[in-house]
Amino acid sequence: MRLRKVKYAQDKLRSYPELVYIDPIENKGKWNSIYSNNRPIHLEIGIGKGKFLFELAKLHPEINYLGIEKYDSVIVRALEKLLIEPLPNVRLIYVDAEKLPLIFEKGEISHLYLNFSDPWPKKAHAKRRLTSPLFLAKYQSIIATNSIIEYKTDNYDFFEYTMMTLVQTNSTILKISLDLHKEKDIMNVETEFETKFVAMGNPIYYIRFQIKE
Ligand SMILES: C[S@@+](CC[C@H](N)C(=O)[O-])C[C@H]1O[C@@H](n2cnc3c(N)ncnc32)[C@H](O)[C@@H]1O
Repeated sequence: MRLRKVKYAQDKLRSYPELVYIDPIENKGKWNSIYSNNRPIHLEIGIGKGKFLFELAKLHPEINYLGIEKYDSVIVRALEKLLIEPLPNVRLIYVDAEKLPLIFEKGEISHLYLNFSDPWPKKAHAKRRLTSPLFLAKYQSIIATNSIIEYKTDNYDFFEYTMMTLVQTNSTILKISLDLHKEKDIMNVETEFETKFVAMGNPIYYIRFQIKE
């Protein structure tokens, strides 16, 4: 993703500690308390500017949403949207997903979304892919047993890699689509990147799965 540096991003993120967590490790085991309720917490990793997360949160006020993003210049755009249209069931975390096991206790997250994650095409970078065995193990350490993970990409090689990884790790594949936008029985909220890829005529690959305990 081409990034335009936002000079004030760090200062702005630090100005809204009730909306953006920049030291999230402090909240490990206490995430429900930030919403003052015990509703399930659903997490999106790599939210970009937050379109998907915010739309989903409006559709499901009964769910608490958390969005993780590692680039300050990107997450600040999501924060700006949240300031214009506040959503009581949404909070953001400015952090690299590598740190997930330091941030959440096992069971704190009950649904995970991976939308158009960077495919990291070079083999040398495979460990950075958000569906590598390394990351699946991190997810396993934070999600409740049998939680659903939903994954979307327009990159066929990345989709194939993810399928292979899921098979190798004995994950349970619940649903696959090779063209999500042609499916009538899958409820889909479009992400920012998805809108662009669909306009280019790319099919969207989709997997719904559970990690083996
Ligand atoms: C290609 S963009 C997709 C954004 C959005 N999900 C969408 O579909 O429109 C991938 C996003 O994931 C973020 N990202 C990638 N790896 C990450 C990581 N390890 N931790 C947190 N965010 C990450 C990137 O900074 C980028 O904003």
